[in-house]
Amino acid sequence: MIVSRLSFLNYRNLCEGEFLPDSHMNVIFGQNAQGKTNLLEALWLFTGGRSFRGSRDHELIAFGQEAAKLSLTFFSEEREQNAILTIQNKKRSASINGVDYGGVMELVGKCRAVVFSPEHLSLVKDGPALRRSFLDGALCQLRPVYTKLLFQYNRVLQQRNALLKEIPRHGELLDTLEIWDEKLAQRGARIILERSEYIRLLSQPAQVFYGGISGEKEQFSIRYHTVNGKGSNSEAQWQEHLFQLLASNRKEDISAGFTTVGPHRDDLEIQVNGRLARSFGSQGQQRSCVLALKLAEAEVLQSISGESPVILLDDVLSELDSGRQDFLLNQLGEKQVFLTCCDPEIAARYSGGGRFEMEQGRLSVRQ
Ligand SMILES: Nc1ncnc2c1ncn2[C@@H]1O[C@H](COP(=O)(O)OP(=O)(O)O)[C@@H](O)[C@H]1O
Ligand SMILES: [Mg+2]
Repeated sequence: MIVSRLSFLNYRNLCEGEFLPDSHMNVIFGQNAQGKTNLLEALWLFTGGRSFRGSRDHELIAFGQEAAKLSLTFFSEEREQNAILTIQNKKRSASINGVDYGGVMELVGKCRAVVFSPEHLSLVKDGPALRRSFLDGALCQLRPVYTKLLFQYNRVLQQRNALLKEIPRHGELLDTLEIWDEKLAQRGARIILERSEYIRLLSQPAQVFYGGISGEKEQFSIRYHTVNGKGSNSEAQWQEHLFQLLASNRKEDISAGFTTVGPHRDDLEIQVNGRLARSFGSQGQQRSCVLALKLAEAEVLQSISGESPVILLDDVLSELDSGRQDFLLNQLGEKQVFLTCCDPEIAARYSGGGRFEMEQGRLSVRQ
């Protein structure tokens, strides 16, 4: 997918205007609080996802206005397409190529993007929940069946947990636990296999990107950390193994009041030079890890869907040394990239493509 035009009206501080990006690299620079992140956020909303800043819909409308409107012209599936996104009355709606849809779900899978913003650093720094949701989010974009599977797993998990809390007071309920163990093991086995396969696909491009970012000076690796499978390979073996595991952990589960084993406790281990990036990585290394994962996510999405997602890199350059910055500015090849930074000097180190300055919500082309 290549974006050729974005126009905006009353979107946060982007009052009215248009953005005609380059088909490869776009550097958007400007001082703090001018609207650079707002511009990337506007592009991101066309994926159908929520704001990557966690904002609510009504916060996206310019202060004092009733509605915000965004229009995107892009080339995808071998033709030019247009999507219009309206945010009004606390809800978003979209029209695509002239057809109105009530909500924005139709956008999912039509416009694809991968975003890195400073908040995403917690992907490496924080606990496993965010890394699981990185895997799950990527898999949901790739495989709609996974969305359903995950939903079912979580529902069964909640029901099993509710039962675990009841058992100390109602011992007779113990016998019903096995039914939930079976359901959980069945879905859990599939989740483990789907995630393992995705990590296998992600691993190689992530290593290549990390190598590029670090000037080939550091080694990067990822690994799925799940329950010990005792040599399980097939879905049936995983299912049987998870079932046994749930049975052998019953006592712990009942006293904890929740399910202590299963894929809802898994992690994506990220290592630099053989050590956990979370505990031993420098700021720059942690940032490089997240970037490598995000760029690899784009690569896998492209190889499976046939369309290259646009890459949104918000404020990624700070805390990276000049070698790492140069890689991001000049080595991302054919992809369409939108990169924001504060420093006009850094923006000047990039040759070719588009250079834009954002000042108080107004965008101007700079040479
Ligand atoms: N709903 C809104 N209406 C008008 N302005 C907004 C709204 N939400 C945020 N802003 C303004 O947007 C600016 C921040 O934009 P942002 O894109 O985060 O800046 P930066 O250039 O630093 O990335 C602030 O000046 C803020 O007041
Ligand atoms: Mg910003």
